[in-house]
Amino acid sequence: MAPARLTIDPAFTVGEVDPRLFGNFVEHLGRCVYTGIHEPGHPTADADGFRGDVEDLVRELGVTLIRYPGGNFVSGYRWEDGVGPVAERPARLDGAWRTTEPNTVGTDEFCAWTRRLGVEPLMAVNLGTRGVAAAAALVEYCNHPGGSAWSDLRRANGYPEPHGVKYWCLGNEMDGPWQIGHKSADEYGRLAAEAGKAMRLVDPGIELVACGSSGRGMPTFGDWERTVLEHTFDVVDHVSLHAYTTPGDDGDVASFLASGTEFDSFIDGVVATADAVAAKRHSTKRIGLSFDEWNVWHRYSGDENGNWGRAPRLLEVVYDLQDAVVVGGMLISLLRHADRVRIGCLAQLVNVIAPVMTEPGGAAWRQSTFHPIALTSRYGRGTVLATPVVSDPVPTARYGDVGAVDGVAVRGDEGSVTVFAVNRDQKSPHELTVDLRGFPDLSTATVTMMSGEDRAATNTVDTPDRVAPRELPSTSLDGGLRVQLPPVSWAMVRLTA
Ligand code: AHR
Repeated sequence: MAPARLTIDPAFTVGEVDPRLFGNFVEHLGRCVYTGIHEPGHPTADADGFRGDVEDLVRELGVTLIRYPGGNFVSGYRWEDGVGPVAERPARLDGAWRTTEPNTVGTDEFCAWTRRLGVEPLMAVNLGTRGVAAAAALVEYCNHPGGSAWSDLRRANGYPEPHGVKYWCLGNEMDGPWQIGHKSADEYGRLAAEAGKAMRLVDPGIELVACGSSGRGMPTFGDWERTVLEHTFDVVDHVSLHAYTTPGDDGDVASFLASGTEFDSFIDGVVATADAVAAKRHSTKRIGLSFDEWNVWHRYSGDENGNWGRAPRLLEVVYDLQDAVVVGGMLISLLRHADRVRIGCLAQLVNVIAPVMTEPGGAAWRQSTFHPIALTSRYGRGTVLATPVVSDPVPTARYGDVGAVDGVAVRGDEGSVTVFAVNRDQKSPHELTVDLRGFPDLSTATVTMMSGEDRAATNTVDTPDRVAPRELPSTSLDGGLRVQLPPVSWAMVRLTA
């Protein structure tokens, strides 16, 4: 078996990593908000009822931006229900998840929380059951300093300073028949263009994300993006992508492990479509990609029907070691496309298909997937290097032959280089070699590895650290690097001078 070979050269780069790539997502769904981020009375809760133990983990996760309040939830949401005195806020039925929403947390609490955390909010407006006026009013409520009805309402509600929300999603998954207020591409494109125009008239400094397809497998994929961008091209800055991968019931683990390949094709397809719309208009504008929902989602685990309960346990997927390797592979794909993917949001942050889990009144802990996300956010900053990978193939049912080893390298501003790599071979280890041409100063390698005999191992409230990365002793380099990657493993190699 030939070693896998990565070649990196400082002269060949992809682009700067946008910090917003390490975003996340909080939806009013299950226990993401209530008993997730917010639980008054919890021993670690602050004066506003937000859990301090969760905040610590969110910081450690390296989250830079948080999308809110949905998701499918936003398509039936009246944002006005979630502002003002909490005791006067109405409880509403949320049809998306068949849950009763108490509206205890709303726009003001969320924005104040993100400000304390030092992360950017990415706010979604409801283009399912509502439209232009409600969207523009929400921008006015959040961003206008004062002297108008909506901005003065914010001030009266105890927030004299504007929230300064810069990033906005124009609805959520409007291509999906399950979406409340589902629309055709023409209907949605027209509405998004007009809502975006009205929102920008209130605050010209905002950036807007149009809804792309809710998945690459949607029958309208491609046509949806083209039509929507033809309507919205001059108004929006980004188009969204959503992708969840699953091991499936068919036991096709080889394809699941190669989920990064699915991401590569999805991103390339959306870039091609957006640039075709630009070309037709003779425009040099480049639409950014907002991959604002992505994750592993075991579709067969976790309830999706709240039976009108409050904060029911929904989509509480427990992730294993293999899932962490897949998530690490998806992050490699996002980094590889740093020139176009500007925003990324793992879905979601706490309890709901999430890297952080909590028990009401009890502990918060890290799932297996927490680790590659936190480490990639911490060390994957700087300039992505063009990283050709040559590797022996592994066969997959969905994507044909894919390289057993995949990887990408990022040059940090302080001169270090970090290589992220996965071995997607279920049976064999692969040696990874890195040709460090053009980096004569790099002398030391430190490898952090996630692998193990038991790929189904998980973290639980009782064994919160069973699945965790381990750091191997540093080794010296001699113009090149050789690392042994066990079967089904994720590795991060820090190369320093
Ligand atoms: O993240 C869970 C759900 O997945 C979101 O509400 C929706 O946008 C997507 O279908």
